[in-house]
Amino acid sequence: MKFLSRRTIRKYTEKKVTQDEIQEILKVALFAPSSRNKRAIEFIIINDEKVAKKLSEYKKNIQNMLLDASFSIVVIADKSQSDTWIENCSVALTLMQLKAWDMGIGSCWMQVRGRVDNNDINSEEIIKKVLEIPSEYGVLAIMTFGYPDEIKEGYELSQVVNDRIHYEKY
Ligand SMILES: Cc1cc2nc3c(=O)[nH]c(=O)nc-3n(C[C@H](O)[C@H](O)[C@H](O)COP(=O)(O)O)c2cc1C
Repeated sequence: MKFLSRRTIRKYTEKKVTQDEIQEILKVALFAPSSRNKRAIEFIIINDEKVAKKLSEYKKNIQNMLLDASFSIVVIADKSQSDTWIENCSVALTLMQLKAWDMGIGSCWMQVRGRVDNNDINSEEIIKKVLEIPSEYGVLAIMTFGYPDEIKEGYELSQVVNDRIHYEKY
């Protein structure tokens, strides 16, 4: 895995990601590190265009990745099960993005928590209603996936500013 080549991909080709490939990506998320190893996070796979369409306006100024994606994964957690649900979901999302990239599949993190739609309705509530998610759950983000239809330069170590790294003290 070349970590510095990883980029967010928002444009996808028509080529579908197969069910086996989806399962490969999900596998890393199922075993993602989580606080006290509780694994109290869950995943909703969106393969159906009609469902994607219902979600496609869930937040302000949204780009239409959900409609173009081969599939998407909504990452949710029962908030009563873990006070680190945000961190747990974030780790799983990150691992899925890296695993997909390693398989030649691009992805984009679409933030849900803390967002509102064009009418200022809470994005989490919109998604919970459409997908029939229980009220005690939080919806952190949706990750869209597909074969890349854009080429982005990878990163170079020389591009990072060294003042973000501290040794022994700030
Ligand atoms: C917490 C978080 C929220 C993000 N939310 C969005 C989003 O809502 N829409 C979007 O297009 N990209 C989103 N991104 C992707 C970032 O914009 C992207 O990672 C960043 O611009 C760096 O680009 P790179 O991933 O190609 O290095 C999000 C990323 C993170 C980690």
